[in-house]
Amino acid sequence: MAARLAVLISGNGSNLQALIDAIRMHMLDAEIAVVVSNRKDAYGLERAEKVNIPTEYFPLKPYLDDGRGRRAYDADLAELLLDYDPDWIVLAGWMHILSSDFLDEFEYRVINLHPALPGQFPGATAIQDAFEAFQRKEIKETGVMVHLVPDERVDAGPVIASRAVPIYPKDTLELLTNRIHGVEHQLLVHALQRLIEGDDSWEE
Ligand code: GRF
Repeated sequence: MAARLAVLISGNGSNLQALIDAIRMHMLDAEIAVVVSNRKDAYGLERAEKVNIPTEYFPLKPYLDDGRGRRAYDADLAELLLDYDPDWIVLAGWMHILSSDFLDEFEYRVINLHPALPGQFPGATAIQDAFEAFQRKEIKETGVMVHLVPDERVDAGPVIASRAVPIYPKDTLELLTNRIHGVEHQLLVHALQRLIEGDDSWEE
């Protein structure tokens, strides 16, 4: 039976699109049960709606405004997702750090995609950070990883798959960004298919 995915996004959703396309082409034995965005204007919501995938807009701001706070948000987000009965939660450009109030509900079932190699450049500016490190001659390549999210550390956890991405002397930040996104689209599908097939040989 196809695995049920809940995909969490905050923006463009090109990785969501890669999942939609891979499922359509039978390269990924899954169905997307729901796409959740914390931003109303996330283009990824349109991508989902175009192919009749249920969407949810679930913003943090009301929780901050009325004092309920981030942990209540995380607990309610988990509740929302449970209604869709997902096997895997895929953070594909999701810009919130999830606390244990969310993660405990989906132990070892939350995966994150990050545009850097394991242990390098955590945070939202990973591609730019790598580009600048290359210019300072500190690194020769960067990469992409897919990892499990066991706790509140940022962009860290058991690595399911990672792939190096070269940086060339003539690169602009835009060229490097495009190259990384191309690799992300492949690696996310590959890593998910491995998990769905029951591969649990990821590195701790
Ligand atoms: C990707 O680079 C992902 O690794 C990072 O956010 C970006 C999302 O891109 N966490 P998109 O919304 O899937 O196009």
